[in-house]
Amino acid sequence: MSERKTFYITTPIYYPSANLHIGHALTTVMADTMARYKRMNDYDVWFLTGSDEHGQKIERTAKSQGMEPLAYVDRIVAGFKELWKRLHISNDDFIRTTEERHIKVVQEIFKKIYEKGDIYKSEYEGWYCTPCETFFTERQLVDGKCPDCGRDVELLKEESYFFKMSKYQDRLLAYIEENPDFIQPVTRRNEMINFIKQGLEDLCVSRTTFDWGIPVPINEKHVIYVWFDALTNYISALGYGQENDELYRKFWPADIHLVGKDIVRFHTIIWPTILMAADLPLPKQVYGHGWLLLESGKMSKSKGNVVDPNVLIDKYGVDAIRYFLLREIPAGADGYYSEEALIQRYNTDLANDFGNLVSRTVAMVDKYFDGVVPEPKVTGEFDEQLKTVAQNTPKEAETFIEKMDFANALAGIWKLINRANKYIDETTPWLLAKDEEKKGRLGTVLYNLLDVIRISTVMLKPFMPLLPGKVSEQIGVDLTESKWEDAKKWGLMPVGVKITKKEAIFPRVDPKILDIDQEEEKKTPEKKTQIEPIKEEITIDDFAKIDLRVAEVISCEKVEKTDKLLKIQVKLGEETRTIVSGIAQHYSPEELIGKRIVLVANLKPAKLRGITSQGMLLAASNEGVLEVLTLTKDLPSGSRVK
Ligand code: ME8
Ligand code: MG
Repeated sequence: MSERKTFYITTPIYYPSANLHIGHALTTVMADTMARYKRMNDYDVWFLTGSDEHGQKIERTAKSQGMEPLAYVDRIVAGFKELWKRLHISNDDFIRTTEERHIKVVQEIFKKIYEKGDIYKSEYEGWYCTPCETFFTERQLVDGKCPDCGRDVELLKEESYFFKMSKYQDRLLAYIEENPDFIQPVTRRNEMINFIKQGLEDLCVSRTTFDWGIPVPINEKHVIYVWFDALTNYISALGYGQENDELYRKFWPADIHLVGKDIVRFHTIIWPTILMAADLPLPKQVYGHGWLLLESGKMSKSKGNVVDPNVLIDKYGVDAIRYFLLREIPAGADGYYSEEALIQRYNTDLANDFGNLVSRTVAMVDKYFDGVVPEPKVTGEFDEQLKTVAQNTPKEAETFIEKMDFANALAGIWKLINRANKYIDETTPWLLAKDEEKKGRLGTVLYNLLDVIRISTVMLKPFMPLLPGKVSEQIGVDLTESKWEDAKKWGLMPVGVKITKKEAIFPRVDPKILDIDQEEEKKTPEKKTQIEPIKEEITIDDFAKIDLRVAEVISCEKVEKTDKLLKIQVKLGEETRTIVSGIAQHYSPEELIGKRIVLVANLKPAKLRGITSQGMLLAASNEGVLEVLTLTKDLPSGSRVK
């Protein structure tokens, strides 16, 4: 028995700190398309996705909602799984980092590297970005903020375990240089080479100031750094080091770790050096795709501009969303999402080009041949041209797909679809139908069109999983089990089968449905920059009456039944105070926890919604934008502000 070739592809395991948006869907749909394509080429495929459930960010988010971390992530992760089901994602496994099978492996790898002497105990002093779960040195910060996401960082000083990443710098660089495919596309590869050449420092791989993580096996006071934990999913899910490690032996090293460009660094520096230290083979490729942007910038929870894929699926269907994501984002580069662009693609490519080709062809077979697929007997002008395009397209498409360039693969398939539409205009079947003597030629024309529909549908199967079923119902041949090879063979469309005229596969969408939403937006008045007049002059003594202090937010929640109020608990030296602040429309509770703010500490207490507010925080605001003043240096709470 000959062994089938294997193919292992992974997506990032996403943080269940909130629901997923179409940016996450882009990565997972890309990976799914690749997995489906490889299966059609007879590969033995393993496709893994999952959730990254530990760390400070998740712990804080759960707390801010008054929930235990596990109960919180259980709910969000159920939503992940539901979304993937709705998008027809064909993953073979879903790994959660809170599962025992994962925890065991992470601890084993940590121990293995520790025993080898590549993990040691020391003290960490530096900055941490919780949204990115990343350590930074002072030098790496940009204007005192996280260089990756621009948000505030926190100063950490704690006992930690360190991984000797610096020891592997030269080996890693050599590996990247000897394996040009390891980091793709090439722009990402160059970025990483430059980054490594600046020098790798040892990596902090444990934390002591919170609990929501995998305990360090040799010291239960520490939890393992969430990225060390998360990256290991790619082998824990295969049962690495376990009694049954059949999947690991079969599928590791991975063929592609597909990730967004934001996390290429973790996958091409931290992960490979961990594997080197553990004496394990490195993945064959890390592919870092670009970002899906909105005209207003990158989608993010704090901007409140995320697009929920579920809403789009309800409106336009799964295949249309998948098609848009795969067609509109150029390989390796950033791309834009807007609902207008989605409707435009839908109407032009799907409803018009492809949908009309199917409905016109099926209608003519129905009308002129009583719905029975005719035999191609009489060849004629334009046949060879059509056939040549049909035979070249799969070869071109596969070259693009292999390079994860789905946009160009689809563009090529559409050239064939539009060649067929042109063939209808050239051969004028409605005129042939008027002449009984031309019936043979008419049969050939319609047969050729059906075969192009068949070939296109086979090629579109990895991109749009529902399409083959819908086309099959109409053209009378089952394409749902087709192999990629079938697209390369001209004339596989069976003769004599019954076609069935049905409703349009992609009914046109009226772009006016968007105007309704836009009308609503227009109602908001035009913005003018206005500054309030400066108040009456005061003396320094007047000002000195106001006692301003640094206070640290230790907990925060929304005041029930209000839209605007947050109840904030702050530490002021040894004292704990409660304040109520009308900023809930600008900050979610979890964003404030841990921040050091400025408090008017001697303001007369006031009651708001039955809660006594013992002070007021300082915030700047203008034109509906509001920012709470925070400190970035490590000044203790209680410090005076003047
Ligand atoms: O980083 N455009 O999880 P995460 C394109 N848990 N892709 C986007 C995107 C956008 N606007 N937004 C998100 C983590 N993505 C870690 C991963 S892996 C061992 C641990 C996609 O929930 C893209 O793939 O922040 C990006 O890399 C990933 O989601 C980040 O997901
Ligand atoms: Mg992220």
